[in-house]
Amino acid sequence: MKIVISLGGSVFGNDVARIREFSRVLDIIAENHQTFIVVGGGKLAREYIAKARELGASETFCDYIGIAATRMNAMLLISAMKSAARKVPADFMEAEELSKNSRAVVMGGTFPGHTTDATAALLAEFVGADLFINATNVDGVYSGDPRKVRDAVRYERLRPSELVEIVGKGSMKAGANVVVDLLAAKIIERSGVRTYVILGEPENLLKAVDGDVVGTIIE
Ligand code: UTP
Repeated sequence: MKIVISLGGSVFGNDVARIREFSRVLDIIAENHQTFIVVGGGKLAREYIAKARELGASETFCDYIGIAATRMNAMLLISAMKSAARKVPADFMEAEELSKNSRAVVMGGTFPGHTTDATAALLAEFVGADLFINATNVDGVYSGDPRKVRDAVRYERLRPSELVEIVGKGSMKAGANVVVDLLAAKIIERSGVRTYVILGEPENLLKAVDGDVVGTIIE
């Protein structure tokens, strides 16, 4: 299969042991599947964006700083992986080129104005992925933010149009906690790529690739 994985910066973390564990699992996945990983900016992005904002940077400029942070995180993951190309592609065409010689390609963000979830959804569409896995800090798409809404239920399955409706209605809180950004949802709908939203733990990635999904399946 051709698989695109969006690895949220907050689940990826800063810890060397955790990055090593993700890299081990991703190398295993890449043995059998052409794998693309889009890494988020997490704490590094948030800290730098907050400082730049305080110093007077525009939101677009802050987005560029966020993108730089995602690329730094991508380089950390590449440092630990055996199967990944030693270059962070700047766009989808370059990512596809690199995939011709490497089982795994790791990238960060691309353009201002959205998150790496949207980047990953666009990459999935561009390369014609069989599967898009969004590994995030919640174990699926809920009817409300599960950390705030007590009776929030997790959707086991959603049609892409339902995902767009849920995300667009704002029933998922905007900002850092949004499980899938609206652009990502729309691209998932447009491309029809099979999508899993799962809790970003290394073992869950292996299970999801085998079709054992604890989370939300969108198709
Ligand atoms: P992230 O995708 O990491 O967003 O990009 P996030 O909300 O912090 O998600 P986690 O914590 O990683 O899961 C960090 C920031 O970089 C900019 C945006 O400002 C985003 O909030 N960015 C990222 C872009 O502008 N374009 C991109 O393609 C990617």
